[in-house]
Amino acid sequence: MDLNLKNKRAIVCGSTQGIGKAVAVELAQLGASVTLVARNEEKLKETVQELDHANGQQHDFIVADFADTEEVKAQIAAYVQQQNEVHILVNNTGGPPGGPITEAKPEEFLKAFNMHLINNHNLAQAVVPLMKKAGYGRIINIISTSVKEPIAGLGVSNTTRGAVASWAKTMANELGQFGITVNNVLPGSTKTGRIYALVESRAEKSGRDKQEVQQEMEQSIPARRFAEPEEVAAAAAFLATRAAAYINGVSLAVDGGRTGSI
Ligand SMILES: NC(=O)c1ccc[n+]([C@@H]2O[C@H](COP(=O)([O-])OP(=O)(O)OC[C@H]3O[C@@H](n4cnc5c(N)ncnc54)[C@H](OP(=O)(O)O)[C@@H]3O)[C@@H](O)[C@H]2O)c1
Repeated sequence: MDLNLKNKRAIVCGSTQGIGKAVAVELAQLGASVTLVARNEEKLKETVQELDHANGQQHDFIVADFADTEEVKAQIAAYVQQQNEVHILVNNTGGPPGGPITEAKPEEFLKAFNMHLINNHNLAQAVVPLMKKAGYGRIINIISTSVKEPIAGLGVSNTTRGAVASWAKTMANELGQFGITVNNVLPGSTKTGRIYALVESRAEKSGRDKQEVQQEMEQSIPARRFAEPEEVAAAAAFLATRAAAYINGVSLAVDGGRTGSI
């Protein structure tokens, strides 16, 4: 099985912590040169130092805020002109805040669509010509299991995730002929800042203890535990390899069996 990513260049968004960072670490271990993207420059510098470079990988980073889609578009255009080689794009960023959909404001939907769908689209449009030229492309979107089964209390997120999944499937249909695959990884509850923030917010709203809320969430998962970020990253990294060339247009849940649908 060919898992070697030597001589491949990957852009990994939202990669200074959590799932994105774990994906960057794993891709570098498989031999890829990684470009990290996030807002915090200090954390980007630290993360670059942590990436494997035993095979001469050249890692770098872009300081960008996904809240400003036009700025991100300009930054990626400049990067692509100078880099001239991108084989792997991992679309990922912080998730939208929680809350019931009946209380969501229209501007919250617009913000989430910009952060997730529009940035994904602009980034993909910028790198696809390079992937076509290389005859090798992997676009991997870190979304959520809410694509298959909406999650209570995450109204804006559920709605946005569905749109991203439809966008990805349509891209997969158009790009498969060029050796480019587009797939989604759907994390279940994963041990990052995001999940502990959700636990805290549920505990606050219900007036219960954080530990009790977390235990209840863990017990509802067949695996009876939250995922390690590395477990989600392993799936994303596999999809980036040559071994996964014939997997295209799928939404792969990495959730310990939590999602109820088949
Ligand atoms: N953890 C879970 O249980 C879980 C479950 C299902 C889905 N997900 C989804 O998976 C994705 C990643 O989750 P995570 O738990 O790994 O999140 P996380 O720990 O909060 O990490 C988010 C990453 O994105 C970057 N980021 C956040 N806002 C950004 C912005 N405006 N512009 C650029 N970069 C930004 C952060 O760096 P900076 O702050 O430096 O920008 C950080 O590197 C999210 O969409 C999340 O909703 C997570």
